[in-house]
Amino acid sequence: MSHWYPSPDQEATAAQAVAAFRAAYGGDPDGVWAAPGRVNLIGEHVDYNGGPCLPMALPQNTVVALRRREDDLVRVTSTVGAAWQGHVADISPGRVSGWAGYAVGVPWALRTGAAGPEGKALGENGFEASVVSQVPVGAGLSSSAALECAVAVAVDDLASAALGRSSLGATDEGRARLAAACVRAENEIAGAPTGGMDQSASLRARAGHALALDCRDFSVQQVPFDAAGARLAVLVIDTRVHHALVDGGYGSRRKACDQACEVLGVRTLGEIGLDALDGALAHLTRPDHRRRVRHVVTEIDRVHAAVEVLARSELAALGPLLDASHASLREDYEVSCAELDLACEAARGSGALGARMTGGGFGGSAIALVDADRAESVADQVSAAFTRRGFGAPAFLLAVASDAARRLA
Ligand code: GLA
Repeated sequence: MSHWYPSPDQEATAAQAVAAFRAAYGGDPDGVWAAPGRVNLIGEHVDYNGGPCLPMALPQNTVVALRRREDDLVRVTSTVGAAWQGHVADISPGRVSGWAGYAVGVPWALRTGAAGPEGKALGENGFEASVVSQVPVGAGLSSSAALECAVAVAVDDLASAALGRSSLGATDEGRARLAAACVRAENEIAGAPTGGMDQSASLRARAGHALALDCRDFSVQQVPFDAAGARLAVLVIDTRVHHALVDGGYGSRRKACDQACEVLGVRTLGEIGLDALDGALAHLTRPDHRRRVRHVVTEIDRVHAAVEVLARSELAALGPLLDASHASLREDYEVSCAELDLACEAARGSGALGARMTGGGFGGSAIALVDADRAESVADQVSAAFTRRGFGAPAFLLAVASDAARRLA
């Protein structure tokens, strides 16, 4: 028997957030907002290299009950960590640690202009908020982006109404700006040097679609993704191995890519096409740089192939692309781990059409494309393989392409 995460129940979670709000602050919140976690179908470690990726929003959300204040006091509580309280002016890089940085970094990023000039006034006021997350934390499913994005849409809705204008979140262009503010909060307040895919997915994805995100300019295309219609499912395997992007591995990969860009005289590795790969590799003297570049350039090519496969509604043809992506992340980018490798191998061995790690790596989750009616049996066989190898039990959920951040109540 495998461990499955419970199916998310938005109403129950919203009620829990409101109850926590009342207990912490008294009175009612102004509203309740939700923002989803994500899985990335393909295109890993390419966002900060100016490449394309293909994430989709999960049905699991982070839910926030929030009330705007007239002064600049900020108070936040959560089921995942200690409460934090301070003034808007207290929030700056290095001054908020832990989970709260992801939440209260958002008004700081808005105030300092990350969402453009119209966004500045949105972050001036304080607020009280209670947070409940359905997105497993530390599982590589972007619980941190979900938290930022839930706070961003809440603050944007309330402040825009107070200012008598329509919210940034009402348009995709405005959502792209909110995403930029969330990225800045994550990079500078929470201290995680991540690339922007997660916040775009949480704010800009659409139910029934994967989000083709071009990280050169963060433009998007909605690509229909109806796994159930093809009698397939995307099984998420959370290895439950610790995953934290503030640890060194993620940052060191970014740095290696920047160094390779300098040697090659390009602004981003995304500028190097597959046909120019051999020439680029010949210029690089460091073997680790050669491996990193080869991953990025071939991964970008796989994303283009995946988008074509989806456009032809040949979902099963994604399988070999997922497998090739995982091999590249394992061998060339070196961000997999024994548990992720086993999750993918065991899933394939029990009939998955393809499998790969998803997200930053070093633990966290893998995805497997499976026949819909075999998801449970694949999960059971992966669980059994983990037990045989002496690893802790993994946990599972099904990734159904879901809605982006929105107001619930
Ligand atoms: C994490 C980061 C993203 C992206 C992925 C790897 O999820 O937050 O920006 O770089 O890793 O693709």
